[in-house]
Amino acid sequence: MSATCVIGLQWGDEAKGKIVDLLTAQNEVVVRYQGGANAGHTVVFDGKKYKLSLVPSGIFRENVKSVVASGVVIDPGAFLSEIERLREGGVKIEKNLLVSERAHVIFPWHKEEDKLLNDSGVRKEAIGTTLRGIGPCYRDKVGRSTAIRIGDLYRDDFDEKVRRICAIKNSYLPGLARNEEARAQLQTLDADAIIAQYRQYAERLRPFVGDAVNFLLEAVDADKKVLLEGAQGALLDVDYGTFPYVTSSNSSGVGVTAGSGLPATFIKRIVGVVKAYTTRVGGGPFPTELNNETGQRIRDRGNEYGTVTKRPRRCGWFDAVAVRYSSRLSGASELAVMLLDVLSGFDQINVCVAYELDGKRLEYFPSNVDDLARVTPIYESFPGWSEEINELTSYEQLPKNAKSYLNNLSRILGKKIAIVSVGPGREQTIFCP
Ligand code: IMP
Repeated sequence: MSATCVIGLQWGDEAKGKIVDLLTAQNEVVVRYQGGANAGHTVVFDGKKYKLSLVPSGIFRENVKSVVASGVVIDPGAFLSEIERLREGGVKIEKNLLVSERAHVIFPWHKEEDKLLNDSGVRKEAIGTTLRGIGPCYRDKVGRSTAIRIGDLYRDDFDEKVRRICAIKNSYLPGLARNEEARAQLQTLDADAIIAQYRQYAERLRPFVGDAVNFLLEAVDADKKVLLEGAQGALLDVDYGTFPYVTSSNSSGVGVTAGSGLPATFIKRIVGVVKAYTTRVGGGPFPTELNNETGQRIRDRGNEYGTVTKRPRRCGWFDAVAVRYSSRLSGASELAVMLLDVLSGFDQINVCVAYELDGKRLEYFPSNVDDLARVTPIYESFPGWSEEINELTSYEQLPKNAKSYLNNLSRILGKKIAIVSVGPGREQTIFCP
């Protein structure tokens, strides 16, 4: 009886999808348990590239059940388009996908609210959300009175609920606009059109919808091997990340049981996924950010542009203060270091081992973003390597300085590095001794 969980330990985009895809081969059930269509990852195999956003990466293996659990917020339009794309690519999903009837549904009013409040003017810097309606949908979930869950789409009072919510949102949304221009762009919500569209979505989703909680509890009773797939990264966790520059769910290890409904005692292994450097999209402090040629070089070599929004990602050196915090918070039992190949060709590679704040050395990650924005990174420097490493298949083959970089990361973080990735393909993976 055991579950493995894969969690990103930075600000998302750590290439978790590849690790989930690899570990799926050893599991019978794969579960996505938080976030929504704000997440995106690319899985590459047999020379084909697949982009996933809401569908768990388990979908590519025929005898694995992929579950979208209760903690996820679902945009049915985005979800159905993704399903269509997978079908067109020859992926069989009919019997392998289960969507929780407890998951909450994203509606057009959530996206409107996201647009209006992303740059609310409350803080100097906008949160820089993906504008997918994620925060407003979670807000309605916690607020309860104006929320709709997947199971509600099939109930008799659905139309009535949507009409009432549209009336509430039509009076509420204009008040959120910062100026006349934003107010003028706002379209009145048309309840009839929304009802017609979501009824159609509901019919297309029907074959996949069920009681995912019960299914997962039965999987526990039957001793099945379950893999849990985190979205975003631990530093974007709404409670423990760089608030308010975070997403609206618990994206660190603390969110696994709440989002999936699986008991904590069932989770035995937590693989923390990190890039060999750091990236971030959207606003918020990023102590090791490189706004220079080195940062651009990392962006170019790592193709650091968002899967979902295509935004260029902010790039910088590895921040070990942040990852020491996020890996302990998430209970990582081991680490996977991704995109090590991107660092080939640098003379010197820096790792931030502490911060300096107001003339004092800080060993821990501050809780306040304004403090984090003022820290200066203290670096340890390591010699780089010039060889390309994409074709290497064993730890022994890695250049001496690449091994030394990994050993130093492991020492600084106090965690074992179990997996190293040197390219996007399944075969470009090194399992460490
Ligand atoms: P939201 O999740 O759309 O509300 O966006 C909140 C913050 O989380 C923004 O800074 C986004 O750029 C960031 N974010 C959300 N999803 C991801 C992801 O999958 N990868 C990286 N950043 C993300």
